[in-house]
Amino acid sequence: MTGFPTIRLRRLRRTAALRSLVRETRLSPDRFVAPLFVRLGSGKREEITSLPGVFRLSPDEAVAEAQALSAAGVKAVILFGIPDRKDDIGSEAWNDAAAVQETVRLLKKSLPDTVVMTDVCLDEYTSHGHCGVLRGTEVDNDATLPLLAQAAVSQARAGADVVAPSDMMDGRVAAIRRSLDAEGFGEVAILAYSAKCASAFYGPFREAAGSAPKFGDRRGYQMDPANRREAMREIALDLEEGADAVMVKPALAYLDVIREARERFDAPVAAYNVSGEYAMVKAAAANGWIDEKRIVGEILTGIFRAGADFVLTYHAREAAEWIAEGSLSV
Ligand code: PBG
Repeated sequence: MTGFPTIRLRRLRRTAALRSLVRETRLSPDRFVAPLFVRLGSGKREEITSLPGVFRLSPDEAVAEAQALSAAGVKAVILFGIPDRKDDIGSEAWNDAAAVQETVRLLKKSLPDTVVMTDVCLDEYTSHGHCGVLRGTEVDNDATLPLLAQAAVSQARAGADVVAPSDMMDGRVAAIRRSLDAEGFGEVAILAYSAKCASAFYGPFREAAGSAPKFGDRRGYQMDPANRREAMREIALDLEEGADAVMVKPALAYLDVIREARERFDAPVAAYNVSGEYAMVKAAAANGWIDEKRIVGEILTGIFRAGADFVLTYHAREAAEWIAEGSLSV
């Protein structure tokens, strides 16, 4: 005899302790990566209007933030640079004295156990805001590759553990791997932003980094949000080129892509819970329209349940602190 009334799924939902025993997906701060925006200077901590709780930090303040993250159990950060100077090829991206490189050096000295990832892209550094160099009004794929490789090598020289190309040029993973190996950085890993879609969810990030394109958009190089099969081809190619881990970005409108990536590939799959996804939660919470802690718990749980191994999220510090105090529940 199966089925009701023999079977009652509510029996294991009766109490918090029972639910906890059978919970299939758990949140753990050591699976979060905190994005940090860094710029040169000292003692600087400017809040980003559209990302409440997220700051543009000088290298010393980035170290303080990483210390607080580490104390809360978050042992990985990814750095984005905000340069004081931009030009048409984005040359600050491979300046060994730039904010990202300086912060990497400081972090590796003061927090050797924290994983330091660096975003490899030119858009924060180019005067036109595109992710590569231009030929006319188009982004020139092959001319961009050596510049990305140079940026990755500069970050590796500073001590980055993982470089994460987010530019979406074809062949960038192979180009970066070759240059890293040639320069003696064979141990530096590549996390490829493989299935990165052209998305309106990056709006607040572009405000934070001042990286909105001055003309056109990124649809000529970032993926069409409609294409799941193409996302699998991007991931397969990046793995063939030597990516150590792959990423799906954004996360929430793309949970099916995360799930399929998890089922098709054995490499670690990351998901990026991007700026617009965070900003929507913060805005609704500020208005008292949602229960922020429960929403954050549900969002992060959903991304892990979809199959992500680790998640890049602006919620990292708060969520970790809520987990530590036992107040983050789904
Ligand atoms: C490009 C890059 C972007 C993000 C991460 N890397 C912006 C873009 O492609 O326009 C967006 C992250 C976010 O929205 O949180 N360097």
